[in-house]
Amino acid sequence: MRNSKPKDCGPGFRIRRYTVKTPKISEEVRLAVAADLHGCPYGEGQRRLLAAIRRERADAILMPGDMYDDRDDDGPFWDFLQGAAALAPCFYVTGNHEYGRCLEGVTNRSRAEAAALKEKVRALGIAVPEGERLVLPTKGGRIAIMGIDDPFAGRNRVSEQYLRCCRQVRPGEYSILLSHRPEKLGGYRYFPGDMVICGHAHGGQWRLPGLRGGVYAPGQGLFPKYAGGLYRRGQGHLLVSCGLCYRYPELPRFGNPPELVILRLIPSVCSSRKTDAAAKCKRCQSREK
Ligand SMILES: [Fe+2]
Repeated sequence: MRNSKPKDCGPGFRIRRYTVKTPKISEEVRLAVAADLHGCPYGEGQRRLLAAIRRERADAILMPGDMYDDRDDDGPFWDFLQGAAALAPCFYVTGNHEYGRCLEGVTNRSRAEAAALKEKVRALGIAVPEGERLVLPTKGGRIAIMGIDDPFAGRNRVSEQYLRCCRQVRPGEYSILLSHRPEKLGGYRYFPGDMVICGHAHGGQWRLPGLRGGVYAPGQGLFPKYAGGLYRRGQGHLLVSCGLCYRYPELPRFGNPPELVILRLIPSVCSSRKTDAAAKCKRCQSREK
């Protein structure tokens, strides 16, 4: 007898991997990026999504907004956050949907609700930066993680947070900025850090053969430049996740499955070069021959 699929199981998701080399770390650092969940369930208690992150042995879980959605039951959202907090250090910033009632516009009430939501997220032990620089210690070295609110928090407020992040970047330290919308703040070209991680574009919603980058993204319109992928940004990168949401009945995804991103930061200089000859990587060994 075949077991029927549980109703809340949801569709599958892919794991999309990006690798970036940097001289600022001495060993590989692995970061899971879960964006735009919109409260969608992936199995009871989010077990499938959490199991995937556990298997990837992520050093941290980064959430660049729209994890919550006011149009839906918030149980799966809290299930994911609780499970994620138990797996690895977590970093969370708001997206437009954390400010809720998007079709009615942002109000003082929805901003107060977002502030209360952030406090509940912090109570789980999850960092919610608002322009602060936080340090993630890893075996490969220290990673600075900064974050800013969605512009729905208030344009001046978010600009001030962004400038504060720019001023806190330290040379020699790998710096990441979390921000929900990839098309804002001039494409982040003045952020002097290494990596900006965003969501919001949902992969351009429909991916068609021969069309690179999807059809439509909120804030970018038709044929978006930053629909989902890894882009060069000055000396650094902009990573845009296609997100994990699969429940937009009015705008279904096509050719664009939900995704969990795994970002591997690997050292561009072999850490064993100076000391242990036996442990040298193959590349260094062949260079020295
Ligand atoms: Fe979203």
